[in-house]
Amino acid sequence: MSDDRTFVIIGASQAGGWVAQTLRNEGFEGKVILIGEEPYLPYERPPLSKAALLGEVTVDSTYFWQQEALDEANIEVRLNTRVTAIDRDAKEIEIEGGDRIAYDKLAITTGARVRKLPIEGADLPGVFYLRTMEDTLAIRAAVKDGATAMIVGGGWIGLECAATLTKLGCKSIVVEAADRLCGRAVTPEISDWMYKFHTEHGVDVRLSTGIEKFEGNGQLERVVLPGGDTIDCSIAVVGIGVIPNVELAQDAGLEIDNGIVVDECARTSDPDIVAAGDVTNHPNDLLGRRIRLESYENAQNQGITAGKAMLDKAEPYSEIPWFWSDQFDANLQMIGLPQDWDETATRGDEASNEFVTFYLKDGIIDGAISVNNPRDLRVGKRLMQGKKQVTAAELVDPETKMQALLKR
Ligand code: APR
Repeated sequence: MSDDRTFVIIGASQAGGWVAQTLRNEGFEGKVILIGEEPYLPYERPPLSKAALLGEVTVDSTYFWQQEALDEANIEVRLNTRVTAIDRDAKEIEIEGGDRIAYDKLAITTGARVRKLPIEGADLPGVFYLRTMEDTLAIRAAVKDGATAMIVGGGWIGLECAATLTKLGCKSIVVEAADRLCGRAVTPEISDWMYKFHTEHGVDVRLSTGIEKFEGNGQLERVVLPGGDTIDCSIAVVGIGVIPNVELAQDAGLEIDNGIVVDECARTSDPDIVAAGDVTNHPNDLLGRRIRLESYENAQNQGITAGKAMLDKAEPYSEIPWFWSDQFDANLQMIGLPQDWDETATRGDEASNEFVTFYLKDGIIDGAISVNNPRDLRVGKRLMQGKKQVTAAELVDPETKMQALLKR
């Protein structure tokens, strides 16, 4: 039986790749076109600030699927291709250069782009951002042993980058505008732990500050701090957050609100268009609110949901947010987006860099952050999912078997 429909996916990254694979896994026999502006097949982003920046992995090894696997699934991948418009009336998209492609169903998985630092000198060679493979390869090529690296932004990217550049022999200096590290994502106690941990590993962390401008003669040579002090440096990496790429959807008249607004099945306000990944604002049943999530797991699982929705096999998607980060020898993991907890419980020892802090609301886990203790965090996630009643006293007690709490 042949299917003459064409399903198009804009954005060839993790979410887009999963939409395409899901269409095939679910038996779709029509045409699948996956379009991306980058020159690479969908690749893993977590290594960009770690193993790939260290030079420990090849570009190919970061691909979710090698070309042969995509060929075998009969997924037509068009790289180096930028979509410029979506014409919903004609059900066509327009490609840079003017070509148009007709679609029966469309998925938008355009992700997010870095927020740029609007200061003088930010376009000097030597000033980098870190979001794409291209960025990582460029930083890697510019890093020299003994160089001073200025890192603007003490969030996930800034801290991972500071750790990796330190490992590469750089002197890393982090300037963070807020009065604590990673403030968007973690709680104040964990920010304090991060500060101590990075400082102990030789990173020069400066809070409540930014930089005034970058200077250099055709190449970054120094930064000027507020107040006029300067620091010589040959490379800078800016990690001050990301902006969802909503413009195509917005210009096409889809509903936007800090991301493309979708329902629990990844459907937009147009019945023929779905969206998934970092770019969406979606309802999360388990948290009881709408969120836009920059997360690996969300890109994959919402991508799968979107693929199914394109085939009218919609299944509501909702999961507890989960993130991880590797900085020096610390593996950090987080579940939930704790907002208004009434109690915390720390299991393990912060000083030995092995612990998990749970956030409780009315005796139920509302989120947790672990350092080098993924095992207890995983059980915590199941306790949270099952809304199990627990007490802070039993969570902190090393005699308590976490698994036993699940049996309630
Ligand atoms: N100067 C210094 N710091 C700044 C400035 C500035 N002008 N503007 C913002 N910041 C700080 C913020 O206070 C925040 O702590 O930059 C930090 C940015 O942190 P995040 O919001 O976590 O963003 P980022 O680290 O860029 O990560 C972006 O990439 O890998 C993913 O999961 C990661 O989703 C995250 C995304």
